[in-house]
Amino acid sequence: MKKHILTLLKQAQGNYVSGQDLCEYLGVSRTAVWKHINQLREEGYAIDSSARKGYRLIDVPDLLNEYEVEPLLTTENIGHPIIHLDEVTSTNIEAKKQAREGIKEGTVIVAEHQTEGRGRSGRSWFSSPEWAIQMSLVLRPKVSPAFAASITQVGAAAVAKALESLGLSPQIKWPNDVLIGGKKICGILTEMSCELDHISHIVIGIGINVNTPSFPEEIASVATSVRIELGGKHCNRKELMAAVLNAFEPLYIDFLKGGSQPEYLSICRHLSNLMGQFITYETSQGIRSAQAVDIDNMGRLIIRHEDETTEALLSGEVHILRS
Ligand code: BTN
Repeated sequence: MKKHILTLLKQAQGNYVSGQDLCEYLGVSRTAVWKHINQLREEGYAIDSSARKGYRLIDVPDLLNEYEVEPLLTTENIGHPIIHLDEVTSTNIEAKKQAREGIKEGTVIVAEHQTEGRGRSGRSWFSSPEWAIQMSLVLRPKVSPAFAASITQVGAAAVAKALESLGLSPQIKWPNDVLIGGKKICGILTEMSCELDHISHIVIGIGINVNTPSFPEEIASVATSVRIELGGKHCNRKELMAAVLNAFEPLYIDFLKGGSQPEYLSICRHLSNLMGQFITYETSQGIRSAQAVDIDNMGRLIIRHEDETTEALLSGEVHILRS
């Protein structure tokens, strides 16, 4: 109901819509309309009301809710529905919980604020409310769990495409970071629940620094935001979130098809900051070094050792060796 009221108010483009029209269109009483209008006001929508003229939308809040983001989606599944929360421990934790309870594939959990945002390798992920996008996508791909690791790269490719649409030049640091000018702008945390031959669900958590004006000195050399990269220009978070989801769906369909040249891997190869670089990576025997030479069709990083033998890394953390 609130969604319909908002749509009608938005369509009126700042003009009044009479209470009577709203009641007739929605088939509800004036009291019901008034209740929903008040709820929308509580959620941050500035709605003017006049006894004679009706209701007029004056301003919409900068929120990543379903009313704001769903109308911008061109997708069939991804982002339908969007579950928007003001505050949550972690969107990944919430998405996994709801996935276990049977929520449908394509659902996106997005929060304005995370109290226990999680990064990879047990690290925490801090992002300021209102300045970031922190969302988790619930997927149920019918592919072998062995093939699933590269789904992180679908997410990275989608974020990179969305950033390119803003005129930025992102790079992808295999397997899960998106960088601009060598600084991290987005991190991805993928978590999977599966049996040996069957994936129950995958949660892809995406955190993007959007309107952060600056970073504390300790991390300013390694972190950046869309706003910083746009020279201080404010970025519309709703449009960016929709752009990521819109880019994600076709790349994900490609991933599911399992063809030999999926677009998401071409994007990851093309935008990779690792190709040809000497890197370090962790093994059970400690840190080793090698040269990154390719990303194969399973999304694995191909590295070449000093003795010219090659190896395929499925996931893990790599660092570029500075000489
Ligand atoms: C990393 O770079 O280490 C991954 C960071 C992933 C952060 C996102 S924000 C949305 C989702 N919820 C979380 O708790 N983490 C991911």
